[in-house]
Amino acid sequence: MTDAHVWPASAAVGADGAMRVAGADLRALAAEHGTPAYVLDEADLRSRARAWREAWNDAFGTADVYYAGKAFLSVAVARWVHDEGLRIDTATGGELAVALRAGVPGEAIGLHGNNKSDAELVAARDAGVGRVVIDSMAEIDRVAAVAADGWGGDPGRRAPVMVRVTTGVHAGGHEYIATAHEDQKFGLSVAGGQALAALEAVLDRPELELLGIHSHIGSQILDPAGFTLAARTVLALRSQLAALTGVLVEEVDLGGGFGVAYLPGEVPLDPVRIAKDVAATVADACAELGTPQPRISIEPGRSIVGPSTLTLYTVGTVKPVTLDDSTVRTYVSVDGGMSDNLRPALYGARYHAALVSRTSDAAPVRARVVGKHCESGDIVVHDVDLPGDVAAGDLLAVPVTGAYGRSMASNYNLVPRPPVVAVADGVWRVLVRRETIDDLLALDQG
Ligand SMILES: Cc1ncc(COP(=O)(O)O)c(C=O)c1O
Repeated sequence: MTDAHVWPASAAVGADGAMRVAGADLRALAAEHGTPAYVLDEADLRSRARAWREAWNDAFGTADVYYAGKAFLSVAVARWVHDEGLRIDTATGGELAVALRAGVPGEAIGLHGNNKSDAELVAARDAGVGRVVIDSMAEIDRVAAVAADGWGGDPGRRAPVMVRVTTGVHAGGHEYIATAHEDQKFGLSVAGGQALAALEAVLDRPELELLGIHSHIGSQILDPAGFTLAARTVLALRSQLAALTGVLVEEVDLGGGFGVAYLPGEVPLDPVRIAKDVAATVADACAELGTPQPRISIEPGRSIVGPSTLTLYTVGTVKPVTLDDSTVRTYVSVDGGMSDNLRPALYGARYHAALVSRTSDAAPVRARVVGKHCESGDIVVHDVDLPGDVAAGDLLAVPVTGAYGRSMASNYNLVPRPPVVAVADGVWRVLVRRETIDDLLALDQG
């Protein structure tokens, strides 16, 4: 396949034109599980998790990699990434509950969130999570209150916390921008002085143990410069805190946001290269500041689960539409849409698609893959060449849907959410089952 790097590593197309993932024929999988369905290549996901862990451990001697569960979390996925030596970053009580159900020890879990509820903080305390990432001044008192009688069942233990800071570097898409101005809801501003004030306030609380400083600069970042710039800012803050208080915090977390290739021709951020770039920057910056290097952690989500998964759809209505310039665009409707992949509607995200159930010699047509929802913005793939004979009943696959696909899925138009089916060694297994109309009706109290 010329576009091989956007598909799960084991994807292959046979002489019959049908795609196999980990040896499983997608036509057979669709026949058994229906469509739409997310199809996840377990070995691909595991190898990406390993690649991130190994690259950062090699570059730094030792480092912690937290899998960002917001990208997609199920009990099996939490087990797999933990098996591969990763920890788990959670952002809500729901994600925390899934990680715990998977048997991941509390110590290996982090809890984020700009508006954590008391119930979430209590759940984190009871599970003895390894770190709570404090996101506001108000949260310092709230976490301290929850930890008044200890942490994780140990009355003598303080709540382990980091403080999330905003470095002025906001990155995403293909570029980053650095500003001193912070106009967003996460974290505490370094430039505005709130970050330093929060770190000092944490040090003053006997119920809290300050592990370090956290920074997350954005998502789908393809330029390493944003990470190195943020690292420098955080390291300078760490050294400033040490000068003021005598406490040199041990850990710096640089967050997630490592970009992947969604389209043929795009180049993902390579874990080895970015780890080396950041390691060189951390070494330089610490030498300049005269401080020992911190322990580094990161929180990749998309770059581990995104490319491991494709969404399988069945084609329904096919409609040629003549545009102003008299060219024709073929609208290919599939049996899902913005309810299983919100990213095109939310961010204008671009995807690729391919016919995966048969061969075709038909000349390609300029197609737009759309969903079945009552919104004209319900677009799955803006622009893709598909065989001109694409027809109802064909199977289409859209790659790189593992991150923020199922996790952002909705029941818009009361459409039941698709299953996540994992494939390994030719065998599939359902990780999350398809919702049914009965599931939807069960929530409706009449
Ligand atoms: C704090 C934090 N960490 C990690 C991530 C994961 O980002 P990604 O999936 O782009 O790697 C996010 C995503 O929004 C985040 O907010």
